[in-house]
Amino acid sequence: MPNVSAHSLSVLIPRPVPEAAITRLKSAGLAVKVRWRPQALSPRRLREIIGRFDAVLSQIADPLDEAMLEAAAPRCRVIAQCAVGYDNIDIAAARRLGIVITNTPDVLTEAVADLTWALILSAARRTGESERVLRAGGWRGWHMLDFLGADVFGKTLGLVGAGRIGTAVARRAAGFNMPVLYWARADKPDMDALGARRVELNDLLARSDFVSLQLSLNDGTRGIIDAAAIRRMKKGAYFINASRGALVDEDALIDALRSGRLAGAGLDVYRTEPNFNRAFLDLPNVVLLPHIGSATLETRDRMAALAADNIVAVLNGRPPLTPV
Ligand code: GLV
Repeated sequence: MPNVSAHSLSVLIPRPVPEAAITRLKSAGLAVKVRWRPQALSPRRLREIIGRFDAVLSQIADPLDEAMLEAAAPRCRVIAQCAVGYDNIDIAAARRLGIVITNTPDVLTEAVADLTWALILSAARRTGESERVLRAGGWRGWHMLDFLGADVFGKTLGLVGAGRIGTAVARRAAGFNMPVLYWARADKPDMDALGARRVELNDLLARSDFVSLQLSLNDGTRGIIDAAAIRRMKKGAYFINASRGALVDEDALIDALRSGRLAGAGLDVYRTEPNFNRAFLDLPNVVLLPHIGSATLETRDRMAALAADNIVAVLNGRPPLTPV
């Protein structure tokens, strides 16, 4: 990797990251300031210090709103988000201030698709619920009527969103012999090549046994699964979300799960994280994961390396590898 010539350039990493990022940044001659403590810097403290750095390697919980970006400018030239989603960043403000924003697409696609399938299978086969019974000493032995879930194979999978991750989820559906419907604003040739069919959102909701969100969060998608959308879902269907919590009306989802209209849900994301709606905890038919979609050693290393490479490129005057 070419060295950045001005040795005084420095990078802020406000939360712990894999070593892969730090090694790459340092070997490019950059000074790196990492906060290793798991507790996040307060927004006030972050605002105080962010303007002292030429680049920031950010994560999804870093509040990079307009005021924070104004505090970062004019010194900060690039913010490299170590995630595919970047709804925590005010992109319009970054453009206005001349700060390049990058993200980490592709390198996490397969890991998030795997986790989406873990949610589908776990929700349908009640693995979390039955494990909790076993661990609590409540297993009374095998019998025919215990822990009955739903078949997954052969059922209809509806993917709301059909980008990279949606396509990777659809590819896995072939192994389960599942017809796939998808909703997207335009035809997706990769999805069509897999035999998936593009349909209207209402049609997808009404016909799918498993509805999975594969969308990024923005003004056009926020709250897309509202109470009316949930009412359109098939009775006994499952709802899966490993994208963003704010895509969904969580209160309406909780009502549908509580009443049994939906058979179950698998959630990796919540409208407010980590302080998610505690009503979910009372629902045995929901699998609740703490936003671990891309959390594998290999994937997180690749994300960290790509974010670092984006910083090195921009500070060297080259185009970013994966700009937003
Ligand atoms: C994680 O949620 C990501 O956007 O990569």
